[in-house]
Amino acid sequence: MTTGGRRKIIAMLSVALAATAWWQYGPRSPAEWTTSDLVVLQSLSLNNLPALPADPSNAVADEPRAAEFGHKLFFDTRLSANGAVSCATCHQPTRHFSDSFQKGRGIGLSGRNTRSIVGSAYSPWQYWDGRRDTQWAQALSPLEDPAEHGGNRMQFARFISIEPVYRAEYETLFGQLPDFSDRRRFPEAAAPLQDPTMSAAWHSMSAEDQHSVNTVFANIGKAIAAYERLLLPGTSRFDQYVQAVADDKQEQADELLTDDEIIGLQLFIGKARCTECHNGPLFTNNEFHNTGVLSFPNEVPDRGRTDGLKKVLADPFNCAGIFSDDPSRRCDELVYVRTGIELLGAMRTPSLRNLGGTAPYSHKGQHATLAEVIDLYNRAPLAMIGHNEAEDKLYLSRRERKQLEAFLNTLAAPLATAEKWLELP
Ligand code: HEC
Ligand code: HEC
Repeated sequence: MTTGGRRKIIAMLSVALAATAWWQYGPRSPAEWTTSDLVVLQSLSLNNLPALPADPSNAVADEPRAAEFGHKLFFDTRLSANGAVSCATCHQPTRHFSDSFQKGRGIGLSGRNTRSIVGSAYSPWQYWDGRRDTQWAQALSPLEDPAEHGGNRMQFARFISIEPVYRAEYETLFGQLPDFSDRRRFPEAAAPLQDPTMSAAWHSMSAEDQHSVNTVFANIGKAIAAYERLLLPGTSRFDQYVQAVADDKQEQADELLTDDEIIGLQLFIGKARCTECHNGPLFTNNEFHNTGVLSFPNEVPDRGRTDGLKKVLADPFNCAGIFSDDPSRRCDELVYVRTGIELLGAMRTPSLRNLGGTAPYSHKGQHATLAEVIDLYNRAPLAMIGHNEAEDKLYLSRRERKQLEAFLNTLAAPLATAEKWLELP
């Protein structure tokens, strides 16, 4: 063979090789990320998660002894009507503090899908509809929800006062507990709930006695919240990838994410417009949006934030209430809260970190898989209540939808929380 012939073959081979290389690896070098893409990637990275905002309404929010106490309370089934339900029944550490059911299962069936608690301390609102404005105020509702713990505040306040370990821990943190032993002043069970007996017992109490029970009840929530503040997401493959790209370590970056995952990421921040709502290091803007999630055929569509807003403003344990430890009671969130017709059917954007193990998805567990959620955005149906904000169909191919899903799975990682907090105390 002549030299020229050999050269030709080599040239042809290298073109073929380059083509296979492109086919195999697709667009992937950082050169493929524009400068503005890189800014978006950084904004999603856990490296840019700011320090946990202080909660001035909870004086023990960052008190280690309160977290220890809250840890015990979180796992304690004695804080329920039947002695079998704790917060951890539905918020399971092995499932990123969620469960595997469409709707939470305690004493009865909750109204909605269990949300993960990981990173929730960053949010100015709690719940799908934001009907509570702090984690300590939030913790009080499951305790009295007939479908969850099914108890009453009188029962809980008394329990803390007679359980020797809890009594000691409580008093170190919050000062002396009142004496609840006089059954004429402090009935067996009492709370301002719908249950007529419970409510009658509560209204038979003096305002002062009600106040002392409410104070202990609020403090139980404050200790639980101190524990929940420790539940934070850990560094995922995605975060490592962003770091490698930023450090210009191309080879390392290539090992961290597959081609499909990178294309999925490109879709996520680009054509699929997911970052309109799932943005920041927790992949949520913590705002309320109607994304047209359909209700189950036998259920009335959920009014979402429209009802949640009324509830948070009326909550006696909200930021503006007398149980807040913030003497200024400056509650900008409540004062400047967003109102409007677009909140009808709107839910608080969930974080997308650690979706594995938390299926089914959406506010009532309507979607069994991530593929079903992605399909919803692709089809963009008309909302059954209010208006679907994500109303533009995405026209993603089957392959692109798979790539988007592959990217979402790169956000899984063990929590950044020390192991002891994830176990029974
Ligand atoms: C029966 C199951 C169940 C139990 C028990 C339960 N929860 Fe929940 N939790 C849920 C469900 C369901 C939601 C979402 C409800 C909604 O948004 O309407 C939720 C939401 C939350 C949220 C809001 C997270 C966010 O980002 O919006 C927090 C925090 C939370 N629960 C903490 C607790 C604590 C603390 C306890 C114990 C005192 C507890 N839960 C007991 C089912 C449960
Ligand atoms: C207009 C704001 C908005 C946009 C755009 C958006 N989301 Fe969402 N996302 C939400 C809200 C709000 C929910 C909860 C909806 C509900 O349950 O009613 C949600 C729920 C989800 C869930 C379920 C999570 C869970 O724990 O239940 C996933 C997964 C998800 N979105 C992924 C995406 C992807 C992927 C995209 C881009 C294709 C996207 N989202 C675009 C606001 C948005």
